[in-house]
Amino acid sequence: MGFLLNPIFIVALAATLYLEKPMDLEQIVADARHAFAQAADAVSLENEKARFLGKAGQLTELLKALGRLDAETRKREGVQINLAKQQVEEMLRARREQLADKLMQQRLAAEAMDVTLPGRGASKGSLHPVMQTWERVEQIFRSIGFDLAEGPEIETDWYNFTALNSPLNHPARSMQDTFYIDARDEKDQLLLLRTHTSPMQVRYARMNQPPIRVIAAGRTYRVDSDATHSPMFNQVEGLWIDENISFADLKGVYTEFLRRFFERDDLQVRFRPSYFPFTEPSAEIDMLFEQGKNAGKWLEISGAGQVHPNVIRNMGFAPERYTGFAFGSGLERLTMLRYGVQDLRHFFEGDVRFLQQFA
Ligand code: PHE
Repeated sequence: MGFLLNPIFIVALAATLYLEKPMDLEQIVADARHAFAQAADAVSLENEKARFLGKAGQLTELLKALGRLDAETRKREGVQINLAKQQVEEMLRARREQLADKLMQQRLAAEAMDVTLPGRGASKGSLHPVMQTWERVEQIFRSIGFDLAEGPEIETDWYNFTALNSPLNHPARSMQDTFYIDARDEKDQLLLLRTHTSPMQVRYARMNQPPIRVIAAGRTYRVDSDATHSPMFNQVEGLWIDENISFADLKGVYTEFLRRFFERDDLQVRFRPSYFPFTEPSAEIDMLFEQGKNAGKWLEISGAGQVHPNVIRNMGFAPERYTGFAFGSGLERLTMLRYGVQDLRHFFEGDVRFLQQFA
């Protein structure tokens, strides 16, 4: 029985026993199918693959064993094994694809974003309504030949009051109380936050020669605070100085301005006698509201008048030769009337819900 111990015989017998059972290949394919299906991810799938197709995998071992068979059997068995191998490889490929697909679906689900949500976007800014009025006023006056100018917000006492015919002890000064600054300019002039844009009348006139036609808008300051007054507000000053410029010119120019500003040709304008130290005669300009909440009411829109001879002198001109008019209008007031804003303080609170309406 010595031949039974011959290693070649043992291998050949084992291989024969193994291969002779076609069920074995079917079993291997079935095992692989089951194992691949059970593999829940790529790593476990590749581990399972090694069991069948790896260097020491079941099918690899069978192929290795072929070499020891006779040619006829080797050919027959070889075809069978290779068919099984192809089947397993195909199953592996299909499962790989499936798992990759599953992974992709999971990631898609996890990283999903709702494209129907409105984007956050970049909010677009716009000019503040009072600045819109500022530009609108400038544009209208420029179109009728006025120059544009701007003056300092920290003004000397002289330009703000004295040059405008309100000497130090003039009672009209108390109507326009302001912040005085504890410093003086190079000419030892007392400094303050300007209470109106009127100092620009004299400043501008001293730098220019008649005919003078100018608009000067900007911030002004007063000790004043309620629904229609704010300690800081914007004014626009207008000045026209030349020979023979009369109150009739003021009426014509200002009425034309209001009609264009409010886009109403039938706008009713009234010049009501008033007092300012720097104009004579002086007037408040009112406009009549025919529609809306203020229907039938006259609302004050501006102070105005013929420039006082003393002011003409302070400009450096001879009042016997030059005359003219000036007016000062509140930009917040013009904006409130144009849009029907009830409370002036809205303009300074920076509430986007309010401001958006003018964007
Ligand atoms: N400066 C005046 C005010 O602020 C308005 C005004 C300007 C009046 C020009 C007459 C002429 O009240």
